[in-house]
Amino acid sequence: MSNEINRLTYRASDRATKAMLTLALGYLLFGLCLGTIGGFQYILPDFLKKELAFQKTRPLHVYLVIAWIFTCAQAAIYYYLPRVAGRPVFWIKGMWLHVFLQGVTSLIIVTCFFMGRFGGREYLEFPPWLGGFILLSWIPFAVNFWFTIKPNYKTAPVYIWMWSTGILFFFITMSESYLWIFDYFKTNIVRDVTVQWKALGSMVGSWNMLVYGTGIYVMEKISGDTKTAKSTTAFFFYFLGFTNLMFNWGHHTYIVPAAPWVKMTAYIISMTELLILVRIIYLFKKTVSEAQKNFHSIPWRLLSFADFWILLNLAFAIFLSVPAWNLYTHGTHFTVAHAMGATIGINTMLLLTSVFYIIQEEQPDWFSQNKGLIRSGIWISNISLLAFWISLIGSGMVRLSSKLNNELFAEMMEKSLPWFKLFAWSGTVIVVGLFLLIIPAMKALVKRKPVTV
Ligand code: HEM
Repeated sequence: MSNEINRLTYRASDRATKAMLTLALGYLLFGLCLGTIGGFQYILPDFLKKELAFQKTRPLHVYLVIAWIFTCAQAAIYYYLPRVAGRPVFWIKGMWLHVFLQGVTSLIIVTCFFMGRFGGREYLEFPPWLGGFILLSWIPFAVNFWFTIKPNYKTAPVYIWMWSTGILFFFITMSESYLWIFDYFKTNIVRDVTVQWKALGSMVGSWNMLVYGTGIYVMEKISGDTKTAKSTTAFFFYFLGFTNLMFNWGHHTYIVPAAPWVKMTAYIISMTELLILVRIIYLFKKTVSEAQKNFHSIPWRLLSFADFWILLNLAFAIFLSVPAWNLYTHGTHFTVAHAMGATIGINTMLLLTSVFYIIQEEQPDWFSQNKGLIRSGIWISNISLLAFWISLIGSGMVRLSSKLNNELFAEMMEKSLPWFKLFAWSGTVIVVGLFLLIIPAMKALVKRKPVTV
């Protein structure tokens, strides 16, 4: 009987959730293909130059992988909402409206990029009016979140706080990132650069809140421990994360003339961020008993890889944020290593944790039959990611030493070539590994759920 009630409570919204998850995986699939083309354009500058130059592949790739992060986080939250609240999703038609608006907007954005129509800023390079449609597509999500959960913040676990903060700050930062269209900002370079980086830096903070929240929810489910997500320590770290969301963008504006104490504060704050998650994951993992670990091994394995990438990125971020060095590292391949190390190693691994957790719940038989394939995909993508990350740091080092030795550009490019080759080829292997995860996951999501009584 209780199974029957659960099925009725979740079934209608689960269909929309699966459509959204499939859309998210589609963004990743397409984004990876464009990333690979961009990677080969590093070593073969004439590759597809007329049809799809690097000026198009880069923004297309970046838009699609960011769409993957946001959409997958939203889909996972939609799946968890009725389970946390114990009631059906408030506005199921709104979920379909969300999928529709999002699908159409991204189709227009991708078409604009292919046609060479830009007009936006870094990370949001599509024509600015499309930003309005993105904001619009988030409204049904926000309505569904607050009206389904009806949170009581006094007793809510930390992931509810994280999701609430992530949604609220997405609206704030996305709006802020378009302030440049007003003359007051456009006509003053310092004001313009500061606001733009502040908006984008905090937007990354907002997607981190959504993604980390889903990771913590899955950990709670795996461990069966509901206390940690409500503990004082979890909230202490949440507030530290919130401070980061609001202030850590400062390390992007070291190039702007500002008081030294502002730079130092930004540096200190940005150092605390990744530590937060390591701590929370560490606390949860301690409580997972051996038996439970084995049963849920795929999501657990993905969480462990995310943990490893958090540590590597933390060490690297400490190096990058030192104000005196940042002058040399900002805007180089060091920054690309930082951005891709975090978005692939941390965000993508945490999101795949949710994807496979959901598939495990929905299609347990399919899941156990395909475990071997998924395990191979996880290993291949993570080992090649390490080579990929090292190649970007290697290119950054070459650039740094050329700058310090006043070498010619051509000389620097020649020295960078072996690193670029490693970048392109290891990137291709990452794609192979991730395809081994994405394609079976998409197949499982479109499969009909077996009827249980
Ligand atoms: C889940 C997978 C991936 C994610 C989330 C991701 C994310 C990103 C992000 C955020 C950037 C912007 C970096 C910046 O601001 O400097 C970027 C740039 C880029 N990515 Fe990826 N990436 C992924 C996979 C790949 C793969 C497999 C390749 C293949 C080689 C690739 C190639 C590139 C290239 C060529 C750029 C442009 C770098 C430049 O500006 O010189 N990416 N990616």
